[in-house]
Amino acid sequence: MHVIVTNNDTEAGKKAFEIIKDAMANGAKVLGLATGSTPVKMYEAMVNSDVDFSQMTSVNLDEYVGMAPDNPQSYRYFMQEHLFNKKPFKNTYVPNGLAEDADAETKRYNQVIADNPIDLQVLGIGRNGHIGFNEPGSPFDAQTRKVPLTQSTIDANARFFKDENEVPRYAYSMGIGSIMKSKKIILMAFGEDKADAIKGMIEGPVTTDLPASVLQDKDNVTVIVDKAAASKL
Ligand code: GLP
Repeated sequence: MHVIVTNNDTEAGKKAFEIIKDAMANGAKVLGLATGSTPVKMYEAMVNSDVDFSQMTSVNLDEYVGMAPDNPQSYRYFMQEHLFNKKPFKNTYVPNGLAEDADAETKRYNQVIADNPIDLQVLGIGRNGHIGFNEPGSPFDAQTRKVPLTQSTIDANARFFKDENEVPRYAYSMGIGSIMKSKKIILMAFGEDKADAIKGMIEGPVTTDLPASVLQDKDNVTVIVDKAAASKL
């Protein structure tokens, strides 16, 4: 794992975009993308560049169960707003929050991942060390599945909703097993809130109690953090 400490999220976003451009120059065709506040500056850097993504495919990590794509809280909506409406991709995949049959949807999404092997996966991290919506206890070999969100994640995500009761309780999430098949991974984290998760991920034991710790001994992983997120290292 390579760790880069930057002054702020803008610098980190630019750095992450450099890594994406490098991967694209080396033939990458599929980007694994993430939502949340963490990758926003990276998407800004992508949008403000003259790079053409129209031959690229994206596969997103997760989506809230029950959320329509045109709901502003959905991850599909987030991706359209922050990236795809401004920089068209060839194909963009996000789990379908409105799927009627959860088993069929997870099967479909696993096939999407199998058909579009991820060259470079971008990740944020939850305060409890989750990646995607793989909460503590998630098996390291899991594929896409429907998962319940922990109270800590519901609390953290409540800021995007009018009321905590509106935060969905379930999500479809790419599993850790699928994430780990990516050729390269960038994980970003900013702010003091993430400092414990970052310390645990880098210095703690590799354990399903802290899902991101699975990345610890991997050479193909780059961690980009600001000083606050790195403050407990
Ligand atoms: C959410 C998402 C994750 C994201 C994390 C951190 O629950 N499912 O993919 O990395 O929490 O969010 P943020 O970047 O807003 O801190």
